[in-house]
Amino acid sequence: MQQVTPEQIAAALAALRRGELVAFPTETVYGLGADASNEAAVRRIFAAKGRPADHPVIVHLPHAGLLEQWAGHVPEAAWRLAERFWPGPLTMILPRAAHVLDVVTGGQSTVGLRVPDHPVAQALLHAFGGGIAAPSANRFGRVSPTRAEHVRAELGDAVAVILDGGPCRVGLESTIVDLSGPQPAILRPGHISARQIEEVLGVPVSMPAHSRTRAPGTLPGHYAPVTAVELVADADLEARARAWLDQGRRVAVMARRPPPADLQHVPWRALPDDPVAYGHALYATLRELDSLRVERILVARVPEGEAWTAVRDRLTRAAHGAAQGV
Ligand code: TXA
Ligand code: MG
Repeated sequence: MQQVTPEQIAAALAALRRGELVAFPTETVYGLGADASNEAAVRRIFAAKGRPADHPVIVHLPHAGLLEQWAGHVPEAAWRLAERFWPGPLTMILPRAAHVLDVVTGGQSTVGLRVPDHPVAQALLHAFGGGIAAPSANRFGRVSPTRAEHVRAELGDAVAVILDGGPCRVGLESTIVDLSGPQPAILRPGHISARQIEEVLGVPVSMPAHSRTRAPGTLPGHYAPVTAVELVADADLEARARAWLDQGRRVAVMARRPPPADLQHVPWRALPDDPVAYGHALYATLRELDSLRVERILVARVPEGEAWTAVRDRLTRAAHGAAQGV
């Protein structure tokens, strides 16, 4: 569990029981947690994030055995996915149980449920014994935190306890699959791919239109840094950077290779050329470049193909610019 002690888990548990907020690590990103059965506590999440009240939050559970307590109906497909992928980076949207608070579901008839795969999250959830409502622990519209210090810098004052479990293994938010309709549908791509879900369910799984295409026009912009992000074809990266520098503008670059000799002075981060390793590093790198207060972050487009779907989705959202979303 890295730096987290049993005393810290106990302090976090006490805070949850008092209706306060606790930030905790998961394998995807850090969550901003509250007792999912305490309306005032869940409202504190929205206040801390500056998030609109009609956005639903995911309920985190210690194990799949609690599914029936939180879902009004658990279809066979949900049991199969839970068996295969939980604990893990998959959120299922299911019909809500009657007691689930409107503030959790955004007033919808469904609830998002997930069992995270992280020893600290598991320790907290098992000690708590119930559901912990937790969106990502960032201000509304900003990049999700993948380290405890990101949470401290952005939300420190609003949180009673921050459990530091080190850097998140996956680094991108969970895959969200909606099982409440006639056909399973991916609402947010993540580490677990549509194909993996199709293999388990044996039926086609639909993808959101924006992750099938490269056109960013209609996307809600979220996961956005403050600095404008521009996606650039890999082959045009140097030319684009030089064009900005020629105008006396300050730029940073995120690529999958090192800078050429004449651009050594530019803040240039070479991320791994592997989609999983890239996803792990993406948010921390965006945060770091954002903090440099350059005028633009140029990001080399990543390859087409399923392995890069989740990364492509987050980059496209970051490049959309508008500071809105989750
Ligand atoms: O990896 C993750 O999922 C992280 C960690 C902390 O578990 N959590 C996370 O939460 O990313 P958040 O709130 O930042 O994103 C949750 C997404 C939102 O886009 C929300 O709209 C969607 O899940 N969601 C939650 N409940 C839903 C529901 N009942 N129907 C449709 N979408 C839902
Ligand atoms: Mg979020």
